[in-house]
Amino acid sequence: MNYSADYTAMDREALMQAVQMRMSERRFTHVLGVEETAVALAKRFGGSIEKASIAALVHDYAKERTDEEFQLAIEQGPYENKTELLKYGNAIWHGLVGAYFVAQELTITDEEILDAIRLHTTGAAEMSLLAKIIYVADYIEPGRKFPGVEDARVIAFNDLDQAVAFETKHTLLHLIEGENLIYPKTLETYNRWVCGLE
Ligand SMILES: [Fe+2]
Ligand SMILES: [Fe+2]
Repeated sequence: MNYSADYTAMDREALMQAVQMRMSERRFTHVLGVEETAVALAKRFGGSIEKASIAALVHDYAKERTDEEFQLAIEQGPYENKTELLKYGNAIWHGLVGAYFVAQELTITDEEILDAIRLHTTGAAEMSLLAKIIYVADYIEPGRKFPGVEDARVIAFNDLDQAVAFETKHTLLHLIEGENLIYPKTLETYNRWVCGLE
């Protein structure tokens, strides 16, 4: 796919190479699965196929950076509540702060794409169509194998908002089961999409 120059100066091949260089073979396979699913969801729900492809390819771009790189980026960046943010880890940082590496290194300036990357693990109360597509595609791509993934796939192509709700509820249950920290934004996502809080 040749991208129009609106969102990145790179074409798909160059973007794929830049992403591949930064991660394991296994993670790159996941990224390609997310792209395939995100493009299918964009077609299904009338989103931008090009933005879905770009956002999916770069969503985990920073996942293999060291904690030190993230900590430095947080200290120097425009983040609210830096002290709080520093208490979390790669699972939260690779999206929220990963968008900064994407913008810096991959010439991607489109705010909707960057926001979809920022929100891809936590979701948010307010999500664009693209943000929902990436959030859900990350959860149901063909390489994902967990109990319930088939249900999630059926729901996703039927009703994207319901898929956001399904994923959020199950992710939270999983986090609580493992006694993991819950990032507050994940609770906002839960309140909005699972409980319908306006
Ligand atoms: Fe991720
Ligand atoms: Fe991912």
